[in-house]
Amino acid sequence: MLRTLRLIPTLSRANMHSTAHNFGAAQARLKEPEDCLAFNAEFPGPCHYHQLYEESLANPDTFWTNIASQLHFKHKSDKGLEYNFDQRKGDVFVKFMDGSITNVAFNCLERNIFRGLGDKIAYKWEGNADGDYESITYNELRTKVVEFSRVLKNRGVKKGDVVGIYLPMIVELPIAMLACARIGAIHSVVFAGFSSNALAERLRQSGAKTLITCDGFYRGKKHIPLKSIADEALMICKNINHSVESTICFEHLKRVTATGAASEVAVINDEENWDNAVADSKEVSAPVEWCQAEDPLFILYTSGSTGAPKGIVHTNAGYMTSAYYSMQVTFDAKPETDVYWCMADCGWITGHTYAVYGPLLNGMTSVLFEGIPSFPDYSRTWKIVDKHQVSKLYTSPTAVRSMMAHPDHMVKDYERSKLKVIGTVGEPMNPCAWKWLNEVVGEKACAIVDTYWQTETGCHLLTSHHTAVPQQSGCGNLPFLGISPQLLDDNGKKIRGEGHGTLVVDRAWPGMMRTIWGDHKRFIDAYFSPYPGYYFTGDGAKRDDEGHYWVTGRVDDLMNVSGHLLSTAEIEAAIASHPMVVEAAVVATSHKVKGQTPYAFVTIPDTAKFSDKIVNEMKAIIRKKIGPIAVPDIIQFAPGLPKTRSGKIVRRILRKVADGEKEANLGDTSTLTDETVIHELWVNRPIKL
Ligand code: WT7
Repeated sequence: MLRTLRLIPTLSRANMHSTAHNFGAAQARLKEPEDCLAFNAEFPGPCHYHQLYEESLANPDTFWTNIASQLHFKHKSDKGLEYNFDQRKGDVFVKFMDGSITNVAFNCLERNIFRGLGDKIAYKWEGNADGDYESITYNELRTKVVEFSRVLKNRGVKKGDVVGIYLPMIVELPIAMLACARIGAIHSVVFAGFSSNALAERLRQSGAKTLITCDGFYRGKKHIPLKSIADEALMICKNINHSVESTICFEHLKRVTATGAASEVAVINDEENWDNAVADSKEVSAPVEWCQAEDPLFILYTSGSTGAPKGIVHTNAGYMTSAYYSMQVTFDAKPETDVYWCMADCGWITGHTYAVYGPLLNGMTSVLFEGIPSFPDYSRTWKIVDKHQVSKLYTSPTAVRSMMAHPDHMVKDYERSKLKVIGTVGEPMNPCAWKWLNEVVGEKACAIVDTYWQTETGCHLLTSHHTAVPQQSGCGNLPFLGISPQLLDDNGKKIRGEGHGTLVVDRAWPGMMRTIWGDHKRFIDAYFSPYPGYYFTGDGAKRDDEGHYWVTGRVDDLMNVSGHLLSTAEIEAAIASHPMVVEAAVVATSHKVKGQTPYAFVTIPDTAKFSDKIVNEMKAIIRKKIGPIAVPDIIQFAPGLPKTRSGKIVRRILRKVADGEKEANLGDTSTLTDETVIHELWVNRPIKL
């Protein structure tokens, strides 16, 4: 029986006190169970959370292996968590249940089927066009996964090979991911909104020799010719000396309602066609490949603050255990009755952990949505919630902000009586979006659960723990079980109690990344060198007197646009590849819906030549090299960029220009080489600011 937070390991008082944590105030106030405030009748109360949390840190091996024992292992070693976060003591590594043998796809499918869930619906697929709908049971999903595993085998894909997946939110996306997991291949999903260049770069970096895609799809009224973008990427791959040997293309468009004119017809050769490939490989054997706990399960690329994107590697046993457990706890999962909907795309980690692995491992029924909240109009989300009686919804502050700008009846016309939990992820939740979710959507009967985590962490690090802690507006978050966050000051010293600092984690948990694909040194440099002994998140946070954390944002050169991390360096490099550009600098500025948006400053040799045409050319380059999401709202001409004497661009000043601040509020500029360029920045600022 699956139960949330019901796993109560035997508590030993001695253990509870051996790992003092920063909950002094909260614990002092909540000593006895009768002091606890319940959010709902079933809820075990804050004491339970604090006890369980203490236990998870005091006996991590028992805690995590107990959870893993609810999953299927062909062989279990006697190992728990092993790790080293301090490079001065040797190589940085993390392992969980090393030497154990399992298969994640087996746990998502066969394990549930053996438990009698074969006829249960795994996915309710809602297409982009309102009315396009299909459902698939666990049995049917398994059949499709086995079929596609045969295709991969037939194409020569072996355990440990990397398979690129470039698909929109259609059922074939989890099918392809699970087929890879079944045969021990490593999937590398690339978001279907990324450009051909971005796809090519990721295929080359990961060494993928196989690519899975589809003919095209509609995003609202826009037709995305995915196959031709993929073909272009394969041409680029050839030019950069990486050859993808095999492509499999699913014909998706023929089963959907067109919502706009198709910009082009996809050319699919017979040998690329998914259905042909399935028919041709019927006789191929593709049994479950039993994998080592620490074999890679997937690679997922995320922006780095410098250089190329980082291929984050997650492995089998640890990722599976964390995905399974965090799904249960954070969403108070009730697989028997829940209809759960994670709106995130599988091109991001949220889609991996909370649209595929987490819900399937728990035997949930999930909605899988191909479309966008604004199409055919802003009531679409609530129409789907009503139609499928969704009880748990996982969305983003960006999506919420875009919806709340429209009349409330677009929500209220639809029934939301089953909705109990609304989770958000990607960016800090702002108070007015929280209020709208609470009052308009949730009618004060839903838990609003802000979840903080990263591609690298694999699962939630901070969440509201709404079943254990009373909800308050804009409440900060508590660490997830087994997660030990710390705040460090500017000197790298631990801050005790209340404070504001850099958010780090001082010990490993099962679901965290293991390395950067092909670049273990970068893994250490980026995450463990800044503060030896700690995992560095790249974010800043505040902690209040009750141990609640409030994430304040990135402390590095990454920006967060609609919940997606973008590297300023990557956008700058794209702009600088325009032949007229001398230099470019990009900063993040705040945006009503997207949270943040890029704002670029560009220097070209001849002022008079700076025109809309050039700006549009630069935007086209960024769209092509990175994707539409990275295109700056404003590209401003700058005759020179403010620099320090050592040549470092002073982004602080550029941010002030971008944020529309007055020139008088500049602060100290005495360390800059040429102060006259600063005034020019204000002179050239677009009028509409
Ligand atoms: C970065 C990770 C995890 C899936 C989505 C993004 C920011 C994420 C929150 C939150 C404040 C948040 C952080 C983090 N972030 N969730 N609840 N409150 N900031 O995954 O692309 O790896 O980005 O997103 O800055 O480091 P990602």
